[in-house]
Amino acid sequence: MTNILCIGAGYVGGPTMAVIAKHCPEYRVVVVDINAAKIAAWNSDQLPIYEPGLDEVVRCARGRNLVFSTEIDRNIAEADIIFVSVNTPTKTFGQGAGRAADLQYWEKTARQIVENSTTPKVVVEKSTLPVRTAQAMERILDCNENGIHFDVVSNPEFLAEGSAIRDMEEPDRVLVGGRETPSGQKAIQAIVDIYAHWVPRDRIITTNLWSSELSKLAANAFLAQRVSSINAISALCEKTEADVAEVARAIGTDSRIGPRFLRASVGFGGSCFKKDILNLVYLCEHYSLYEVAAYWEQVVKMNEYQENRFVSNMVSAMFNTVAGKRIALFGAAFKANTSDIRESPALAVCRGLLEEHAHVVLTDPYALDNARAELGDAAGKVVFEPDPYAAVEEAHAIAILTEWSLFAELDYEAIHESMVKPAFIFDGRNILDHKKLHAIGFNVYAVGRPPMVSFPG
Ligand code: NAD
Ligand code: UGA
Repeated sequence: MTNILCIGAGYVGGPTMAVIAKHCPEYRVVVVDINAAKIAAWNSDQLPIYEPGLDEVVRCARGRNLVFSTEIDRNIAEADIIFVSVNTPTKTFGQGAGRAADLQYWEKTARQIVENSTTPKVVVEKSTLPVRTAQAMERILDCNENGIHFDVVSNPEFLAEGSAIRDMEEPDRVLVGGRETPSGQKAIQAIVDIYAHWVPRDRIITTNLWSSELSKLAANAFLAQRVSSINAISALCEKTEADVAEVARAIGTDSRIGPRFLRASVGFGGSCFKKDILNLVYLCEHYSLYEVAAYWEQVVKMNEYQENRFVSNMVSAMFNTVAGKRIALFGAAFKANTSDIRESPALAVCRGLLEEHAHVVLTDPYALDNARAELGDAAGKVVFEPDPYAAVEEAHAIAILTEWSLFAELDYEAIHESMVKPAFIFDGRNILDHKKLHAIGFNVYAVGRPPMVSFPG
């Protein structure tokens, strides 16, 4: 039996290993983490993350060939293949602070692998890393005193939260990069063999280490760039009575452009887009490619502009003051179908409104606990209300910040009745029926659309 180990039981490690275990019953898959509470949750009925379809996959494999454990050293010793899926956040200190990837968790893992290994292993970069990290990894691993051979392979993850299980089950592609040596090629094959259990062979791309590492950063940069591009157009739409959804439809039907990732919004969030682009910017600067760095940095700047613009639009529409006004924020998660709030534009809007002294009420079906923790000191000024109908009572405005489908299904006539008049809706995701809301009596402000106001005169 082949022993697979994954170090890091987070949003990537947990779901990816569960799917591998499900499809590869002859492999033993162990997922370890330094966070004992997280491992306990993975072993319980209350998994540590909300992800559609995840419960079923975990239930199918856990106890059969899928194990969650805190015993890192022993499991390293027993593993043939080690996926490393630890967090690689943006560095907050020292050289490259605010841009470069913080590789301390990554390096600690490499050293722990060396200390506990007595047999050769394939070490797989699952985390998103700066291009050429594999070289540093190889250098640390090669410093072992027992002469053990390690092969480093890059296998970046492309799943998106909220659709992680579907993305894993039916990936557009799986990417595996390795050295062009016989041993490197054998290591690539070992990883290809895992995915070939359920992924068609023509969707498994093999390449060299550096192309694989860079492809992951580039893919996220391209995706985020599309969102920033349509959001830039949304600002112009609001000034010109064009409708951003119509523009997106018109340009998205061009097969060279394609329809996906053209939804204008309050901004992109999530733990990776900003971090990975800033990392790309840092790398470009490192190689003195300043124009390239500035080009990609603009994608992040545009996103910050969009978030700030949303708050400014709210304040200016509400007679230039929201101080003391109750405002219901619909959504805390950075996108629908996840409990993840990392870099959520909803929380950026929440902070912006608190600065304006608004009374903020936050509602979300799955992400309220995470939001409370993330807001830290500011959480004391926010009301966390799981029931959207309770959140809107006596509110001056609603802002839709996450595209949860339940927000589109509420009774807005009843909501309008319970709000202070004039009542405002700011749709940061364009999921509501704006004409209907306007007919009810709301003043409707949507991203990339002309406002629909109901004031006389
Ligand atoms: P996460 O924070 O949810 O999980 C990382 C886990 O690693 C944590 O539970 C942490 O306790 C654990 N960890 C850290 N150091 C450890 C150590 N030395 N030993 C054992 N466990 C350790 O992060 P994530 O969202 O799963 O992301 C992991 C990586 O995957 C990042 O590089 C990220 O960029 C990349 N990625 C994330 C996504 C996503 O959707 N979240 C998608 C693709 C790629
Ligand atoms: C993204 C990528 O889609 C994944 O391929 C990648 O693996 C992952 O980052 C990662 O490396 O972590 P994720 O951040 O989970 O996945 O979710 P996305 O669906 O990409 O959405 C990111 C943000 O962009 C969300 O806030 C979403 O609401 C926003 N978005 C997305 C828009 O505003 N408009 C769109 O048209 C699409």
